[in-house]
Amino acid sequence: MDVLGVIDLPASVILLLACIFLYVYYMSSTHGTFKKLEIPGPKPWPVLGNSIFAFKKGMFNTVVEGYRRFQHMGGMYGVYEGRTPILTVTDLDMLREIMVKQFNHFPNRRKYSTMDQPMIDKIMFNLEDDEWKNHRALLKPTLNPTRLKASYPRVEKLLRSMLDAMENKSKAQGGELDISLLIGCFCMDVIAGIGFDLDCNSIGNPKNDFLVKARNFLDTFGERTFAFALFVPPFVKHILDWLGIMIMPKKEVMFLREFTRRAIDVRRSGVGEKRGKEDFFQFMIDHSVVRDDKKENITAPSTRLLSLEELYGSSLTYFLAGYDTSAKGFFFSMYHLAMHPDCLQKAQEEVDEVLKGEFPNTDNVQNLKYIDMCIKESNRLLPLGPYVERRCSQDTTVLGRRIPAGMNIRVPIAGIHRDPNLYPNPECYNPENFSPEACKDRHPMAFLPFGAGPRACFGQPLAMLLMRVGMAAMIQRFHMKPCGKSEYPVRIIPMSDLVPEHGLWLSLTPRS
Ligand code: HEM
Repeated sequence: MDVLGVIDLPASVILLLACIFLYVYYMSSTHGTFKKLEIPGPKPWPVLGNSIFAFKKGMFNTVVEGYRRFQHMGGMYGVYEGRTPILTVTDLDMLREIMVKQFNHFPNRRKYSTMDQPMIDKIMFNLEDDEWKNHRALLKPTLNPTRLKASYPRVEKLLRSMLDAMENKSKAQGGELDISLLIGCFCMDVIAGIGFDLDCNSIGNPKNDFLVKARNFLDTFGERTFAFALFVPPFVKHILDWLGIMIMPKKEVMFLREFTRRAIDVRRSGVGEKRGKEDFFQFMIDHSVVRDDKKENITAPSTRLLSLEELYGSSLTYFLAGYDTSAKGFFFSMYHLAMHPDCLQKAQEEVDEVLKGEFPNTDNVQNLKYIDMCIKESNRLLPLGPYVERRCSQDTTVLGRRIPAGMNIRVPIAGIHRDPNLYPNPECYNPENFSPEACKDRHPMAFLPFGAGPRACFGQPLAMLLMRVGMAAMIQRFHMKPCGKSEYPVRIIPMSDLVPEHGLWLSLTPRS
């Protein structure tokens, strides 16, 4: 084909160039949004927006550096993730309005293509408006203190197996251990055990199907979500839906779904009647359309029952939201502490004095105030979610600033947690940042490891319990210190969801 009478190109090349042009134009067509709104921000690249930095340095550092650079430019700045405009709010008062006080205007999160799909769209994280509200209210009692206490004997048994496995494994490895592996197994076994009355035995067999499938799902989830958000125009998702192609790994989703289906059958057939009556799963069944009204011990019907799809979604919520986060919260908190011998000694003295040799339980760990400070400090330095998001549901004004409907709001948790105005020497580990005096005058939005407001983390009571009892039990049982393979600060696999690149190695010796 003759182009402007100058070059002669084959039609296929012309078509390809036209497609590239249309793609670049479409993917960049939103990149003037913040200029129009007079909101500062870094200049976007065509197609990718501002994500090049995230590719090079990872999401965590991107959030911290963006916060530092734009913090003093009016309380908010705009970036583009691919073609999606994201308004990052750095002003803490404004964040309190968005997450707490004006929650009704910001009730939902961004809809990622990877999550907005049949079979996984009923995970609580994704649900919106009334569906989310009903779901959350219905499931809230599954993690109340009475239920957690009732489940504790099972947690204790698993904790003791984890400690034994740690002792044996470290002995076999010359006194050194990567604590992240066994803590991950422990958390998976706890979620499966107290959630579903399932003996998953990851501690005994870290290669079991559950752990492997959950890990695959989580790893793939992060990668595909990012890739889709950056490069793929939204309409492609609808084409894939129409063709019945799932973006997420179908095998893993089907495995967890099939497990839930079989578990429902077992409960309904009465085989599991006596076992695990208090578990999370039984509670869900009793409040779902699959409950069997003829059976005894059914709690009063709620005004709104869970559908079968929501029941599957809730099971996935527990496995996917619960296992990985609690594991990371626990192993990073333990590792940070072990890398600071003075702090570890103080924690050890507290554990010995408060527990007096008694094994940790739901009651006695409430008095471990220093351990709590250490957990908070670790979650400050390395928040598991470097940011969270909300979506504005209608045009609104927040402390005099206009926010248009549909805008995605980013809460830069990692940046806030490393702000020197809030935490002196923010890069250093210092549990004293959470002494009662230090916390007294700090802004309530200055520490957000579990988010804030009505959409804050649903699993916080369980996560806190596991971190407290887990750390106390390890401190009670072992002397811990850095070893040759220890790495500090921990190196994280770039673009991963805070996965330590070389494990978390410590020297472990049993205390006499
Ligand atoms: C140390 C452990 C954990 C951390 C640091 C953590 C952190 C978070 C964060 C930052 C959010 C977003 C909050 C927001 O948008 O404001 C969240 C949401 C959520 N978390 Fe956790 N989490 C942990 C453990 C758990 C556990 C054990 C479970 C379940 C058993 C869980 C279930 C959820 C659910 C369902 C949501 C979505 C809540 C909603 O949309 O209403 N999390 N978590």
